[in-house]
Amino acid sequence: MKVLVVGSGGREHAICASVAKSPKVDKIYCAPGNAGIGQIAECVDIGAMEFDKLVDFAKEKEIDLTVIGMDDPLVGGVVDKFEEAGLRVFGPRKNAAILEGSKAFSKDLMKKYNIPTAGYENFDSPEKAMKYLETAKMPIVLKADGLALGKGVLICQTREEAMEGVKTLMLDKKFGEAGNTIVVEEFMTGKEVSVLSFVDGKTIKIMTSAQDHKRAKDGDQGLNTGGMGTFSPSPFYTNDVDEFCKKYIYQASVDAMAAEGRPFTGIIFFGLMLTEDGPKVLEYNARFGDPEAQVVLPRMKNDIHV
Ligand code: AMP
Ligand code: GLY
Repeated sequence: MKVLVVGSGGREHAICASVAKSPKVDKIYCAPGNAGIGQIAECVDIGAMEFDKLVDFAKEKEIDLTVIGMDDPLVGGVVDKFEEAGLRVFGPRKNAAILEGSKAFSKDLMKKYNIPTAGYENFDSPEKAMKYLETAKMPIVLKADGLALGKGVLICQTREEAMEGVKTLMLDKKFGEAGNTIVVEEFMTGKEVSVLSFVDGKTIKIMTSAQDHKRAKDGDQGLNTGGMGTFSPSPFYTNDVDEFCKKYIYQASVDAMAAEGRPFTGIIFFGLMLTEDGPKVLEYNARFGDPEAQVVLPRMKNDIHV
């Protein structure tokens, strides 16, 4: 069969390498791909946001399955476009990719379905956010609602920093429209673990745990990045943690999306913080992590059979 992978990073390289292991696959294309990917797949000069061109290409080449690696096209509804054209595609529809596309949505979902996460308030007015921050407990965390390449999270130690943060996100619009709404969240401490899972709308199967290196600069003193290097498994992902997450987080999240009429199919990435009060969800992503995919996929016993 023929597979098209959409994206251009290390994650898509790892996806191509995994797909290539399947005996059923005889041709892999990657749009737009990169030089490394070019060694195992044919790179196609179509951008990940050029939905019509991607669909036309998939039809023309009779692609049997398209795998979407990146968040932007998923949140933008690329899966819906492929489905409308009668093409097989792996990833959540737009109405489910919102799990990653809007942090305010995901926080409200967790609150409604009692999924453990940090306390928070959502704000679409900078004045109201600043008023709240006048009396809120410090440190505090500000998050741009929309996609910001993992960089839209500000950990603020002081009230002044927090006020400045609201200005950066909501008034200066450092991350554009992503900062129209912000989540103001309780600061948590603990070890961070990433868990990837396959989800079919109802059922969830988790993969092995991983950890990435988030903050820039030596001694983790810099700003957050999208993750720069990773390892798997995480020594902190113990059996107790696994049991807790299976009971309160994984299936509960899938069930919550289904109950909202937004059944999730594809990959859910759980960003977890192991706090003193137990594991809590920091964030959801609607795709493989980058760089987590690069260490998790090669450790899978089975090929990605399609
Ligand atoms: P997120 O994109 O929401 O996962 O946030 C990116 C990173 O910011 C996380 O991996 C954490 O390192 C940090 N972070 C996010 N939320 C919190 C929080 N409530 N308390 C402490 N650190 C946080
Ligand atoms: N490494 C975290 C992410 O992919 O969002």
